[in-house]
Amino acid sequence: MRAHALIFLGAPGAGKGTQAREIARHFAIPQVSTGDILREAARKQTPLGLAAKANMEAGELVPDEVVCGIVEERIGEPDCQNGFILDGFPRTIVQAQFVERMLQAKGRGRPQVLDIEVDEDLLLKRLTGRRTCSVCGEIYNVYFNPPKVEGICDKDGGKLLYRADDNEETIRQRVQAYHRQTSPLIEFYRAQGVLHEVDGNKEPEAIAKGLVEFLSQA
Ligand code: AP5
Repeated sequence: MRAHALIFLGAPGAGKGTQAREIARHFAIPQVSTGDILREAARKQTPLGLAAKANMEAGELVPDEVVCGIVEERIGEPDCQNGFILDGFPRTIVQAQFVERMLQAKGRGRPQVLDIEVDEDLLLKRLTGRRTCSVCGEIYNVYFNPPKVEGICDKDGGKLLYRADDNEETIRQRVQAYHRQTSPLIEFYRAQGVLHEVDGNKEPEAIAKGLVEFLSQA
């Protein structure tokens, strides 16, 4: 894999987190998820978390300057020196331009962008059915990938949580925000020749296998 930064693009529920987790494990690079960082800040009730919470609960994007600051700080940490995955970032043209400047400043080339495309009528079931382990972050789905014991993580027995923004009304807002503010990034990156489209309707294992093959050659 040549690119220093891998970007996962896709609608809410497309499978960015699921795939980013597998690719991070396979290539031993960190997964930087702005959604996870913001949720953790909200849980700890830091000023940043409290400010972002209202946007997240409304299904709106958190302001660009806030998320760019988070990413800048996170990728400055030592474990990101040899590359990293951006999961759910950038989500606006302003954020994409920030990534461009940041990689340039580090003397790195362009990112590799993986756009996960999923039929829109699947998103609601994927999101309302999602459960995430409170300990290790493993992602399940009560319809498509249920745990062996309801509410409990197969790997470490952790309690499975339901995300506050995974309700129908907020999902609708999140999908609208994606179409309005994030989907223009597809053309932005296609024009740069760094976009790779991924069929996200397949089984997660098949998608991951295809991604590993692609990235091993890219
Ligand atoms: P974030 O946490 O990034 O949420 P999102 O983009 O809405 O994406 P999701 O995490 O919901 O979905 P995913 O694509 O990762 O799917 P997953 O793999 O979990 O952001 C939350 C909020 O934070 C935003 O609304 C915003 O307010 C704020 N925010 C974050 N980043 C920001 C930024 N850059 N700028 C501004 N604001 C920002 O899969 C979903 C479900 O489907 C799971 O149950 C999974 O098991 C299942 N599944 C996955 N793949 C498959 C498959 N192939 N087949 C069947 N089921 C599958």
